Amino acid sequence: MNDDDWERLTQAAQQAMTRAYAPYSQYPVGAAAITETCQLITGCNVENASYGLGQCAENTLVGQLQLTGGGRITAFTCVNADGATIMPCGRCRQLLNEFAAEDFQILTPEGIRDMAGILPQAFGPQDLSEVAR
Ligand code: THU
Repeated sequence: MNDDDWERLTQAAQQAMTRAYAPYSQYPVGAAAITETCQLITGCNVENASYGLGQCAENTLVGQLQLTGGGRITAFTCVNADGATIMPCGRCRQLLNEFAAEDFQILTPEGIRDMAGILPQAFGPQDLSEVAR
């Protein structure tokens, strides 16, 4: 990913943000990712009158990932209504970890990071396989 690639991914996230349904928080979010097979996937937050049921943009993005063939994410970014890069919330870092490629990169407000940089010592699928059941 060069600077132009990140710029295009940010633009895709900004486009997705325009589809957000955020009448309660008034905080639309858009997310965009590239998969190992160079597929572009996006997501937006979708809130609910039952506030706790609101879905983050990353949530709808991983749904899109799975719906469109699955695979692993190599590059990710998300933006707010100003188009500014934001950090995924804690829960969403866990969602991304499930589908992150080995060489996963995320554009953050402080630059590009890897998964360990945003979710140290992540709990993941490998933890489940390490216990005899
Ligand atoms: N939100 C996301 O979509 N992703 C994040 O990582 C941070 C928060 C949404 C949830 C809610 O709809 C709104 O932003 C305000 O928290």
